Amino acid sequence: MPPALVQASPSATRPSRFAPQAPYDALAPVYDLLTGDYTYPEWVRELVGLARDHGLEGRRTLDAACGDGNATVPLLDLGHEVSACDLSPAMVAAARRRTGGRARIVQADLLAMPLLGRHDLVTCLGDVPNHLASLADVAAALTGLRRNLRAGGMLLFDVNLLAAYRDVPDVTVRDDDRIVTWWGSRAQIHEPGGAGEVVVDVFQRDADGLWHRSTCRQPHRHHPLPGVLDAVSAAGLEVVAVHGHVPGAGLQPRADESRHPKAVVLARRPARLTTKTRRQR
Ligand SMILES: C[S@@+](CC[C@H](N)C(=O)[O-])C[C@H]1O[C@@H](n2cnc3c(N)ncnc32)[C@H](O)[C@@H]1O
Repeated sequence: MPPALVQASPSATRPSRFAPQAPYDALAPVYDLLTGDYTYPEWVRELVGLARDHGLEGRRTLDAACGDGNATVPLLDLGHEVSACDLSPAMVAAARRRTGGRARIVQADLLAMPLLGRHDLVTCLGDVPNHLASLADVAAALTGLRRNLRAGGMLLFDVNLLAAYRDVPDVTVRDDDRIVTWWGSRAQIHEPGGAGEVVVDVFQRDADGLWHRSTCRQPHRHHPLPGVLDAVSAAGLEVVAVHGHVPGAGLQPRADESRHPKAVVLARRPARLTTKTRRQR
């Protein structure tokens, strides 16, 4: 691969459309490379520990928007009985390969969630709410996840804060047959509630040694944290804990939009349904 190709500029930005399935299908063959230095086993252990500290009981777990199984595998390794789902068929296929039949993994849209069981825990990790166009969509997705919890069951998710979208570097990762450039500088969002676009160039070498280039575009939306917490309540869930998260430094006591790239939210399906939630079932 000539280095010039790796440094090529991403092509002009198209208008943002919140249609994440196609980008993630294209990313599935390289997603392991792109997220290879993320420490999911440690992160998942820390998050499950947080839920247990707040009273989580049981191990029936749904990993929603599982991607290629970054969190699914550590959940299985912790002894959880795991189902998983994702919108992208290519991600579902990658997660199935990676988990080798240890988890039931199906294609499902968070905005039209089927009932996959009554779980003790639902995880939805990797800034998934930022892939949804509006807070109304976030509330709709959380409602679908709440239906997949037993009464008293817990939901764990993370959401990007404004700090995640500031001063984002361009990153290139590679192995012998794949080169991926993540144009972070194109994903900047400066205003609360603003939209951006993550552009990823993927170069893959085929069996004949020829390189193929494809460009993926993922619309991202920053959702201010108070709006996200309102969406949790609107979905009929109780907020149990909110923490900032900084890679390498773990969970922080509070979430700060300007300092922490992520917030981690732990919520519970109430043991008793309110009249409002009963109407939403
Ligand atoms: C950043 S990846 C995170 C994947 C995985 N949870 C992880 O932590 O590595 C976001 C995932 O959300 C999925 N996704 C985006 N919108 C979705 C939707 N409406 N329904 C289900 N999955 C969705 C994408 O296909 C992608 O696999």
